[in-house]
Amino acid sequence: MEKGIAKAYELVSSSNEIVVLTGAGISAESGIPTYRGQEGLWRNYDPHELATPEAFFKNPKLVWEWYDSRRAIMKNAKPNPGHFAITALEKEKRDFTLITQNVDGLHFAAGTRNVIEIHGSLWEIKCTECEKIEKNYQVPIPELPPKCDACGGVMRPNTVWFGEIIPMERIDRCLFAIEQCDLLLIVGTSGVVEPTASMGLIAKKSEKPVVEINIEITPGTGLYDASVMGKSGEILPLLVESETSRNRM
Ligand code: OAD
Repeated sequence: MEKGIAKAYELVSSSNEIVVLTGAGISAESGIPTYRGQEGLWRNYDPHELATPEAFFKNPKLVWEWYDSRRAIMKNAKPNPGHFAITALEKEKRDFTLITQNVDGLHFAAGTRNVIEIHGSLWEIKCTECEKIEKNYQVPIPELPPKCDACGGVMRPNTVWFGEIIPMERIDRCLFAIEQCDLLLIVGTSGVVEPTASMGLIAKKSEKPVVEINIEITPGTGLYDASVMGKSGEILPLLVESETSRNRM
């Protein structure tokens, strides 16, 4: 076994209370584009034109058309072996929390239950007037922008945009879970967007081991206890499969 994986396996198998933090990389093998890198969304689209409150105020239809096209990709996407391995971990461990920056809903689709969607969900829409939130799985949405059935206000995606503050209660839940855990596993995130970018260091400061899985080096690589270079859909099942077989022995 390669050294990084061996260490990661040792840490995953000896942990009882695990927090997993995921980014767009975990869904890349499901065909959902990441944000940064060669094929990243932000290389072809300007986030200031599409993912800010100002952009939505200026042209809600344009912003919705972009989100509608992303929802179409997500609706056809299936969870990959990385998502399922995380679900298996949740079943095996005494305590488990998943923090995801992803808005695609694939962790739920894979059966993971204790999920904090720190950036919200593309399957929820929120009224800009009365703030009513509802689930919406229509693809495409017939009328853009959709209107609130309670007050007639314009509905927006219930995701966190650039320039917006993540609800404090959500951040508190993440920090509490990290404080209680005995391992933080960080998967498929570039580690450049706060507050998640600092969560590895927060865990380290509380002397929790941190394992990272990514196809490339991130700002945290080298600071963590193990960094495994590889695709999450290939590495995660290896870690969890070994763990499952160990429990059977
Ligand atoms: P990024 O696109 O910034 O980073 C994706 C990471 O996944 C990179 O580090 C890749 O190397 C890695 N990666 C790609 N394919 C992988 C694979 N198969 N296995 C493992 N790793 C892989 O995405 P995030 O870090 O999630 O926020 O971005 C954070 C936030 O920035 C997003 O939630 C979004 C964006 O702006 C908002 O929209 C608020």
